[in-house]
Amino acid sequence: MGFEAAHVHGTRVHSEPSGTFSPDELRLIRDAGRTRVWRPGAVLFPEGGPPDSVVLVEEGLVKITADADTGYTSLLAIRGPGELVGEMSCVDGRARSATATAMRPVRGTVVASDRFLTLLERNGSLTLTVLRGLAARLRDADGLRADQGALPSGVRVARVLLDLVLRHGAEVPGRAGERVLSVSQRELAGAAGTSRESVVRTLRRLHREGLVSTSRGRTVVLDPRALARWAGI
Ligand code: CMP
Repeated sequence: MGFEAAHVHGTRVHSEPSGTFSPDELRLIRDAGRTRVWRPGAVLFPEGGPPDSVVLVEEGLVKITADADTGYTSLLAIRGPGELVGEMSCVDGRARSATATAMRPVRGTVVASDRFLTLLERNGSLTLTVLRGLAARLRDADGLRADQGALPSGVRVARVLLDLVLRHGAEVPGRAGERVLSVSQRELAGAAGTSRESVVRTLRRLHREGLVSTSRGRTVVLDPRALARWAGI
């Protein structure tokens, strides 16, 4: 495919890989931790929980969500292989900023937070990689805030969807170019900072135009290139 998720600007879930670790940095993290597996739907750690460890995702996908008092859940990000989750609270010592949930079977390397902090203190290049990841996220959050007022909600939904399927969607066997991802309408709404009704309307419209199809929590982007054009990218 000739274009990448990096072209999807200014959406909350868009990010460059959150600091890509070098093989040496990956070895440092793996040597300091132990392997653990989670079943689909299992919570790696809950929002508000103690900052006791970080997880390097080795296999599978982890969904990062935050709940508002009103019951509204925002999908903040999806993290995949080679990415860290849980480093924010380890660095600032405060409670977990969000909930991390396995979207499919997940294997990860768990490093206790005191060991992780010691690694950061001793290894400048690892610290810089983690810092780059945090900077990427701040850019995303800024981009979303800028988009909130500037773009109609349908366009934001389309951009978020495109970004998610390009970064984390699976290719559909035998259907060149098509990508599929299991993401609910509620999660898409949270990711785009809009209402579920707006997501339903947008998906209906995209479906009529032959750009996406949906069934039981799965969304297939039939033509990512055309969806990008639709979203003005
Ligand atoms: P922590 O606060 O320890 O626990 C929740 C984790 O979710 C957080 O660390 C990050 O690893 C991750 N996280 C929180 N917000 C975002 C975001 N906007 N994008 C990507 N990852 C996030």
